[in-house]
Amino acid sequence: MARNLHVNGRVHEVEASDDTPLLWVLRDHLGLTGTKYGCGVMACGACTVLVDGEPVRTCVMPVSGFTEAQSITTIEGLPGADEDPVQKAWTEHSVAQCGYCQSGMIMAAHALLAKQPEPSDADVEQAMTNICRCGTYQLVRVAIRQAAKEMRDA
Ligand code: FES
Ligand code: FES
Repeated sequence: MARNLHVNGRVHEVEASDDTPLLWVLRDHLGLTGTKYGCGVMACGACTVLVDGEPVRTCVMPVSGFTEAQSITTIEGLPGADEDPVQKAWTEHSVAQCGYCQSGMIMAAHALLAKQPEPSDADVEQAMTNICRCGTYQLVRVAIRQAAKEMRDA
């Protein structure tokens, strides 16, 4: 059925069955392929987007669970490394290796920093449960520290 979704600041009409996971609506219907499919069971975080600022793993969340009143942000909705302290820190520390998990990591980091401007190691540990097969975890932590400082100093 047709439904409206508010994605990256615009309302999009999409035609999808109720049980289609949001991930596939974003990727296949809207062409927003920065959000990735990893495990399909909410374990890896590759499919993470923000919904009203909260990190949501979209691989098993049916599109019928989302309304136009909710604001969905994907990696494509972020302003890029020139303006976004998180993407800037990621770029400066060359966090990405193959890159496959990284949009999910960046979205999770955004959700964390919106709630915790000065996250403790435990906060980072708790929020960043995304899996990276390339083992970028240490660089992710360094980049989050830098982004947090930059956001606080802005
Ligand atoms: S693909 Fe959604 S959590 Fe892994
Ligand atoms: S950078 Fe390759 S899986 Fe994370």
